[in-house]
Amino acid sequence: MRIIVAKDYTEMSKRAADIIASQVRINAHSVIGLATGSTPIGAYEELIRQYNEEGLNFGNVDTFNLDEYLGLNCTHSQSYRYFMNKYLLDHVNIDPDRTHVPDGMAEDPESECEAYDQLIREIGGIDLQLLGMGNNGHIGFNEPSSFYTAPTHIVKLTESTIKANSRYFDNEKDVPRYAMTMGFRPIMQAKRVIFVVSGKAKAKVVKEALEGPITPQLPASILQLHHDVIVVLDQDAASEMDLKDNFILTDDQLFR
Ligand code: PGA
Repeated sequence: MRIIVAKDYTEMSKRAADIIASQVRINAHSVIGLATGSTPIGAYEELIRQYNEEGLNFGNVDTFNLDEYLGLNCTHSQSYRYFMNKYLLDHVNIDPDRTHVPDGMAEDPESECEAYDQLIREIGGIDLQLLGMGNNGHIGFNEPSSFYTAPTHIVKLTESTIKANSRYFDNEKDVPRYAMTMGFRPIMQAKRVIFVVSGKAKAKVVKEALEGPITPQLPASILQLHHDVIVVLDQDAASEMDLKDNFILTDDQLFR
């Protein structure tokens, strides 16, 4: 596991975007796993800037999002398809047919989950998966106690996640209670993972996830078992960590 501590959110976003951009520059046909939430928005802004100003080319890239609320149409302002289009996909030269988000309105959500995994397998797996983390340590919508072997599946959201996400809805009762999420299996099969966390509020959880025991009670802790994870934290998120100097990498070391 390689850990980068950036001085603030802006710097963290730039570092995360640079890693994604490098992946796309090295392999124009990359398959990128995308995440929603407030944390990656700055990285998406930087990717759009690199597209506009530096010719970063998404023309042959495929994307797969981690999750989607069950029952929200893609035109709903809180659906994750809407989010992705708004914050990234509508602003770069990606082929919309090559952008994938589970369909929250699928008639048969179970089959939709199976088909999603099948598509990821057929395309050859995810080259780089971007992950954020919820306050309770969830990744995607894999809530505490999810099975480590889970494929893409339907989850019941915890009260803590419903509360955290209610900030985006008019009313807490409008937050969907169920979602589809990539499970640990497709996430852990990604060739490389980039894990971004920002802010003091998550400092304790990020420390437990990366330095504590590996347990389904703290879903992000499974990342300790992934062979190629780059963690990008801002100083606030890293503030509780017992970081050893040799974990903190410079750009030179990262891209060597
Ligand atoms: P946040 O959400 O980036 O808005 O904190 C992260 C998540 O719930 O995965």
